[in-house]
Amino acid sequence: MPLVVSKVEDSDIGDYVRISLAGFYGDPVARIFQGCDINSPSAEIAALIERRRKTVIGQRNVNPIKVTDTDTGKVIAVAEWNYEPAKTPEKLEKIDIPDDASPALVAILKTYLGTGNEIMGDKPYWTLGNMVTHPDHRHRGAAGLLVQWGIDIIDRDGLEAYVDASADGKPLYERFGFEQLREVVYEYSDSDLNVRETHYCMLRKARPLVAKTGA
Ligand SMILES: CC(C)(COP(=O)(O)OP(=O)(O)OC[C@H]1O[C@@H](n2cnc3c(N)ncnc32)[C@H](O)[C@@H]1OP(=O)(O)O)[C@@H](O)C(=O)NCCC(=O)NCCS
Repeated sequence: MPLVVSKVEDSDIGDYVRISLAGFYGDPVARIFQGCDINSPSAEIAALIERRRKTVIGQRNVNPIKVTDTDTGKVIAVAEWNYEPAKTPEKLEKIDIPDDASPALVAILKTYLGTGNEIMGDKPYWTLGNMVTHPDHRHRGAAGLLVQWGIDIIDRDGLEAYVDASADGKPLYERFGFEQLREVVYEYSDSDLNVRETHYCMLRKARPLVAKTGA
């Protein structure tokens, strides 16, 4: 049952969203971020697929990747490795928030992106987001392959990597050399929602570049 990593293509975007919905089911922050869950009406899921198609496919610096089980041809895990170029002071101050974001999503983005900007400052770095393995396919090494895909690029370029890890993801990142810098609590409540979630800001320092020797 060989598992293979490759780029998410336009035709994979439905799988990409459905695996995220199944894998993050029950996670209140992911529910806010996605705006629906796996039990939502199909029209809501279809709308999320179209939103993700715009933000994930063919975007500069955004690298959506998938793990396929080549025995079945099924996609079993997905993630996004994104490159964050060096930021100007103005860009560091300003968090990009979509116009139609709900108040809960605005609070999430301010918490996550604001902390990331505070920690990483104006340095360029890579970040991994939306890493998720379908619940039927956990503990087969799929997420490890997704992390390794980015680490190979990062170590080639001698850059740092930063992640906002869930409690599930933290041990995996530690195995790849990420260290916890902060524990951040996201809290939000209104008349419908009462959410409290802890996540871990983790950094993988740049590894020294290995000089290439002539043949
Ligand atoms: C976190 C998550 C992505 C891990 O996915 P996964 O594909 O099960 O991860 P892996 O299989 O690569 O590694 C998980 C464990 O399985 C073990 N493992 C890897 N290959 C294995 C194999 N062939 N046989 C048995 N165990 C194996 C790993 O050693 C690892 O052990 P550890 O947790 O003690 O470190 C998954 O639990 C998930 O989707 N959680 C919900 C969403 C989430 O929190 N995502 C992380 C956001 S930061």
